[in-house]
Amino acid sequence: MDSSSNVFTFISPTLPPALAASIIIIAALFFSPGGLAWALSRKRSTIPGPTGILLALSGSAAHVSLAALARSFQAIRLMAFSVGLTRFIVSSHPETAKEILSSSSFADRPIKESAYELLFHRAMGFAPFGEYWRNLRRISSTYLFSPKRVSSFEKQRSEIGEGMVCEIKRMMERNGVVEVKRMLHFGSLNNVMLSVFGKKYDFGNAEGMELESLVKEGYELLGVFNWGDHFPLLGWLDLQGVRRRCRALAARVNVFVGKIIAEHKRKDHGVRIDEVESGDFVDLLLGLEEKERLSDSDMVAVLWEMIFRGTDTVAILLEWTLARMVLHPDMQAKAQAEIDSVVGSSRPVSDSDIQHLPYLQSIVKETLRMHPPGPLLSWARLAIHDVNVGDHVIPAGTTAMVNMWAITHDEAIWSEPQKFNPDRFIDEDVNILGSDLRLAPFGSGRRVCPGKTMALATTHLWLAQLLKSFKWVPSKNGVDLSGNLKMSLEMKNPLVCVAIPRY
Ligand code: HEM
Repeated sequence: MDSSSNVFTFISPTLPPALAASIIIIAALFFSPGGLAWALSRKRSTIPGPTGILLALSGSAAHVSLAALARSFQAIRLMAFSVGLTRFIVSSHPETAKEILSSSSFADRPIKESAYELLFHRAMGFAPFGEYWRNLRRISSTYLFSPKRVSSFEKQRSEIGEGMVCEIKRMMERNGVVEVKRMLHFGSLNNVMLSVFGKKYDFGNAEGMELESLVKEGYELLGVFNWGDHFPLLGWLDLQGVRRRCRALAARVNVFVGKIIAEHKRKDHGVRIDEVESGDFVDLLLGLEEKERLSDSDMVAVLWEMIFRGTDTVAILLEWTLARMVLHPDMQAKAQAEIDSVVGSSRPVSDSDIQHLPYLQSIVKETLRMHPPGPLLSWARLAIHDVNVGDHVIPAGTTAMVNMWAITHDEAIWSEPQKFNPDRFIDEDVNILGSDLRLAPFGSGRRVCPGKTMALATTHLWLAQLLKSFKWVPSKNGVDLSGNLKMSLEMKNPLVCVAIPRY
């Protein structure tokens, strides 16, 4: 008997040698660093990381689990792991994160089945790096996200903010408490709908209810961890029903958004580029020159994506911020004193006041640090071709993530990272728009969030309006800061609190 037969006999004297050999090979692949998908790769991983198939990514605190794993494997800069047949790397270090995010080799995104079925591969966020994506990016940064365009939306933003103030008073009279998330969600949804579709919705009637139901189903489908994305057989079987539900939703979305596009076409003008200040984004897309114009189905994808990207990120950020204000009454009072001294009580807050409210801006920064809405930077990047990160070769097709949550909670980078302390940003001005990877909640590089200016303008104005109008105090339920990572990092137990009018 040769030595290899001895090994097989050792595994089990009753197993046939071929089966025993297969078990050994599978076990060797499974237990090699970085796990199965890395072991099957033509380039062996030189990056530290857990063996096996990582289940942590499917949990509601994947960012926390990945941060702990990176620490335990001493793989802060770069860690490799596998989920099914998908190869991953994740960085929890600002320098390596910058290297990944700013590299054109990582300018693609992996497309989950749900995104594909909802046609998002034709929208900006998932479109492959190339001419089509560049065109979308150029059109939207010129006509939807430019500073001029964002400031032209001030009136609607401010009216929606005032509407929320009235709604809060009604909720307080009716229930004695405010369900913050619900109110912010509808305000934010209408804000996006007005900028993009030029239309506001009443969520009490049939059309508003249909919109809300489409958005809710879309969030669930895009947020769900679909095992089929990583195990081809499970994908084929569609055991979680993701494909079936996506197809049903895509049909309803086509009808809903298709109707809005048709209404705009009936207006029979197609806004000229020089008239764009007065039109919405659909008008603009319809008025584009022949060579840039999108097909109707591509327009549905582009417009629909804006709703998903733009609505809950802002609502969730504001909910976390208000939760912090409830928990830290001293900081709330300081922000209110700042607003009182700049704005006073006789006039409403406006966009132009925000630059004079540094403490309020620091509160938002500190909330983004402690509770980034996209702790793993929402949607990951994909290596387009073989590329080096540090000394390691990353094969084409590897999914790359940045654990922004791990970076913003690292005590080697931030002093007392667990402490909510807006003053740290008064002492040091940190740019949060993508140039400083110690705090880059909107990502960085070519695929940085194009909606960041709009998101911050909305968050600052609404926060100022809400703090100016009310003193926020806990309800009998208190405040639970546990998070739940779905499409964004939400509060696990939505904030319910008491708002006492200040005037
Ligand atoms: C607090 C609010 C927001 C946060 C924290 C946020 C965060 C992010 C992040 C982390 C990315 C990925 C960046 C990267 O890969 O480097 C992203 C991409 C994107 N965001 Fe935002 N976002 C917010 C608001 C918005 C808004 C209001 C819109 C539009 C209405 C928007 C539209 C997009 C789009 C279209 C992309 C994909 C860009 C591309 O792949 O080229 N976001 N966002």
